[in-house]
Amino acid sequence: MAGQQEYFSSAKISKIFNEELSEEELLLAEKEYAFPPSQRYRQGASLVRGWPLAALPYIGERYGRLKKFSTPVAISVFTTKGGVLKTTLTLNFARSIALHGMKTLVIGLDMQGDITTALGHNQELEDEEDINTIMAKINETKGLADIFNRTSALNEIIYPTALPTLFYIPETPELAALNESLSNINRREYWLLEKVVAPLKDEFDVIIMDCSPNWNRLITNALVASDILLSPLECKINNFRNFRVFRHFLNQFKNEMKLDFMPIFIPTRYAIGKKLSMEIKGWYTSNILGCVENGIKESVHGEEAQALKISLVEHTPTKDIAIEMRDLLYELGDRIRTHMNSKRELEIANNYCPPIPGTEVIGESPWP
Ligand SMILES: Nc1ncnc2c1ncn2[C@@H]1O[C@H](COP(=O)(O)OP(=O)(O)OP(=O)(O)O)[C@@H](O)[C@H]1O
Ligand SMILES: [Mg+2]
Repeated sequence: MAGQQEYFSSAKISKIFNEELSEEELLLAEKEYAFPPSQRYRQGASLVRGWPLAALPYIGERYGRLKKFSTPVAISVFTTKGGVLKTTLTLNFARSIALHGMKTLVIGLDMQGDITTALGHNQELEDEEDINTIMAKINETKGLADIFNRTSALNEIIYPTALPTLFYIPETPELAALNESLSNINRREYWLLEKVVAPLKDEFDVIIMDCSPNWNRLITNALVASDILLSPLECKINNFRNFRVFRHFLNQFKNEMKLDFMPIFIPTRYAIGKKLSMEIKGWYTSNILGCVENGIKESVHGEEAQALKISLVEHTPTKDIAIEMRDLLYELGDRIRTHMNSKRELEIANNYCPPIPGTEVIGESPWP
């Protein structure tokens, strides 16, 4: 008999991916071995059918609205304000695209370690009683500093999650030292791009970096390595000033470094019943270039999902907040796809070399 939490009914699956998807259709596809099979599990007094978490990325890839991007994409989630849902957005975006079958890597860049915790790192240690065992296990965790110090290879710092398409590089306390060390090397803004992100683009469809709220060398490295910046805009009055300063520094850095990442701004923490909060949201969406219509409103379900270490869409797929989050993720997916397609076309155009007259091969090649 299967455990309830790990299994998803066809009703929940259709809410997550596609309202029109029926149990009959899933069962037909299951007969063709399209994904791991369903099982019956007990829910209250009755037995219901459900699919394991491991089946979801296959189902999502086949029936879901978010489709793979044309090229691998690197994304930073950053703004210089704390508590504005950067980590929440990282978790929800990463889990959702992984549920849609895209191989996803989260890189934690904040010494607070929130995304590492949200992805369930060392969760099992909470049941461990012996402090020495706990400390030994915590110290075993490898991270970016081990790549810098050449004490680990890239594949040794990438950790799996229960979702087979979702992986992460955890935050470790050594990130503080790495941040300092990066200032003392040549091409100090390019380390993350050259040693980590570019090589891993061969292996992952999406790489998403959860940033801390302050400019530091890790963050400038993340921006240099990014194709897309996702930047939350808190719908509170004191954020206006913060945003003006942030945008100034962001544009300055982008121009100086000749970067071509596309910023997408996302209104967060607005309260539907509060006039001022909704006015601020309206101002953002109509005045800030690159600001999306859909955002993330203030909600206790957001906190609950974070505590359960899952996305809102998995937690409460029928609640308004989850539907809004799903629409936001679709909008982000569409914008990212358009940007990556035009970037790819530009690259193809730049690399295209017309045949040079007089160098055409005449007749059959003599070589096998
Ligand atoms: N929709 C929501 N409404 C209100 N609070 C939320 C919502 N979603 C998540 N939260 C909670 O808000 C808090 C701050 O969110 P989060 O950690 O994502 O912010 P952050 O921008 O990453 O913060 P930091 O700058 O410290 O890294 C967390 O405790 C989180 O669980
Ligand atoms: Mg955070």
